Amino acid sequence: MPDPGEIELNRRALMVAAGACAALPAMGANARSQPAPVGTPVLADVSFSVNGQQHALAIDTRTTLLDALREHLHLTGTKKGCDHGQCGACTVIVDGQRINSCLTLAIMHQSASVTTIEGLGTADNLHPMQAAFVKHDGFQCGYCTPGQICSGVAMLDEIKAGIPSHVTADLTTAAAVSEAEIRERMSGNICRCGAYSNIVEAMTEVAGRQG
Ligand code: FES
Ligand code: FES
Repeated sequence: MPDPGEIELNRRALMVAAGACAALPAMGANARSQPAPVGTPVLADVSFSVNGQQHALAIDTRTTLLDALREHLHLTGTKKGCDHGQCGACTVIVDGQRINSCLTLAIMHQSASVTTIEGLGTADNLHPMQAAFVKHDGFQCGYCTPGQICSGVAMLDEIKAGIPSHVTADLTTAAAVSEAEIRERMSGNICRCGAYSNIVEAMTEVAGRQG
């Protein structure tokens, strides 16, 4: 049978060991809470035209086209909604194609021609799509509207170019403008206010005038 002194010693050793174990997660948490070292940003030169005006920027290579437009060129008409390619608020037209500017890096667009909402029309001389949105009440808060309008302009060009969509029934003939085509092709542009039916009316009217 162990003597009492030996039992006391073992109990003390157990307490010390338990204390050391308890400290381990705390040490880990402390270590994790240290900020990761931040590297010096890598800058790159990029030049492109925006709304017909040439711009040369030296920017962090991680800068999205959206941030280059808003933060560097101060063209805040292009909106940041989700910043994840899910809402379409940031849609701009690059070399004739609509893209989500939050999903692409500015340095990928060397020598490109970018059109934002500021380049489509002015308050005194609205683009036909802007005028149709006003006429048909195609917005409420207006946050999604610049993306909707840029997307809609390029979308009608896609139909005119004969590019089919998921709802085009006959791939051997050019797609025609219809409510189903507009709704499908604009499905990447979300409107939280739910102005969809008025937006479709506006786009249908512009397509009719172009046709
Ligand atoms: Fe680009 Fe939402 S902000 S898709
Ligand atoms: Fe408000 Fe579209 S008008 S989100």
